[in-house]
This record gives sequence, C-alpha cells and structure tokens, in this order.
Amino acid sequence: MTTHRLRLGVNIDHVATLRNARGGALPDPVRAALLAEAAGADGITAHLREDRRHIIDADIDRLMAALRIPLNFEMAATAEMQAIALRHRPHAVCIVPERRAERTTEGGLDVAGDENRLGDFIGPLREAGCRVSLFIGHDPRQIEAAARIGAAVVELHTGHYCDLHAEGRLAERDQELRHLMVGAAHAASVGLEVHMGHGLGFETVQPVAAAPEVVELNIGHFLIGEAVFIGLGPAIAEMRRLMDEARAALA
Ligand code: PXP
Repeated sequence: MTTHRLRLGVNIDHVATLRNARGGALPDPVRAALLAEAAGADGITAHLREDRRHIIDADIDRLMAALRIPLNFEMAATAEMQAIALRHRPHAVCIVPERRAERTTEGGLDVAGDENRLGDFIGPLREAGCRVSLFIGHDPRQIEAAARIGAAVVELHTGHYCDLHAEGRLAERDQELRHLMVGAAHAASVGLEVHMGHGLGFETVQPVAAAPEVVELNIGHFLIGEAVFIGLGPAIAEMRRLMDEARAALA
C-alpha cells in the first residue's frame, strides 16, 4: 500500500460568497487562490453553480490564466457547464449534483441511476484531456457505476460524517467513517483514484487523511471561515500539518 503525500485542494467558493454579498470586486477569490498556492495548496477547486451564487464565469477565466497549480472545476452535468469546461479544459472536472434550493451540495450524484446519460456526458470531457471526477456517496453501487462509465476519480462525500461530528453523534460518526473507509478501499480496488471532501475541518480531517487510498482532500468553507481568525495562509498550513501528521502515522 502506498502512503503518498496527500494532496490538498483548496476550495475558494466562499471568498466569492463574501464578495457577492456586496456586489463589488472584493474580496477577490483569485487573490485567495494565489495565496493558497503560495501557502502550499496542491490545487484550487471552484464550483461554478448554475445560479452563479458565488463563483462567476469571469473568475474561472481569471483562475485559468493565473494559476500554476491545477484547477479542479466543479459543475453540474448540464450542457451549459460542459461547454464552459470544454472551452477552458481545466486539469480536472468534478461533476456534482445541484439543486437550486440547497445551501450546499447535499448529497452525492446518482451515477447508478443515470449511468448512460452521465457516461455520454463525460465522454467529451475525457477526450478533451480533463480528469473526470464524480462526487458520490460511499454506496458500492455508485462506486461501481463510476468505474463502469470511465471516470478517473471519485470524490467521496464527507458531509454526513462531519455533520454527525458537529452534532456530537459520535457512534454514528464512527460508523459513517467506517463506511467511507470501506468505500475508499472499494473504489481503489476497481481502479478509481479516491478523493474526499465536504465539511472537513481541523477536528475531522485526520481520520479521513489516514485512509491510505485517499489521494486528495478538497476543503473550502472551514478554511475560509478560519481565515477570518488566523489568516488564510496559517489556516492552510495547519490543515496541511494535520494531514501530514495523519499520513505519517500510516508509514
Ligand atoms: N468537494 C465537493 C465536490 C464540493 O462540492 C465541495 C463544496 O463545494 C467541497 C468539496 C468543499 O466543501 P467545503 O466547502 O464544505 O469544505
């Protein structure tokens, strides 16, 4: 089993949330992305939602021009988003389910229930050289469907695990964590690269960072919130330290 260095993708959506609250240009999510790059992020994640509630099209243009580290472009499986991704050809495209009324991405994609359409949808993205990632739950049926349609990566949704932690439901949290671990091992066994993300913070990151199959964590909201108190660079550095510590314990 490899114990490679875990990649940290920093999601900058909520810098744009703050900017959009006033409708101006500040704070600039691209500046945050460059700061994250300087602070040791391995990639930047940005979700262009259909309603443009945080990241807007011009942010993606500017991120593509400015970043030296890879952009993980999160999007719904719509024709509009596919055209945008094909125009930019980011390093990675992460397909997420999107419901307009939700506050954040609440569940994983139903790949098993939409296999033919999603397979057709990701074809042109794969041909354009993007690594296609599917944001799913740990259900083995979803993992196997992701492998069948030719995704390179699955990102397992850690939101439920983090919610259970926050609510102090620790036995259920640990059970959910076990499901995530089994899911990660299963995904790796069928040839998928395994990422995890959603809701992670300093208190929840280490158990998932300790899953040997996990290659990348994508973390946003907590880091942007923590930046208010300790600064974005130090928040990223502490997350990096915790990830490395969890990883070192594996070796
Ligand atoms: N991964 C995916 C696929 C997401 O949709 C999100 C939220 O946009 C994240 C990771 C980051 O979640 P959070 O902002 O809660 O850290």
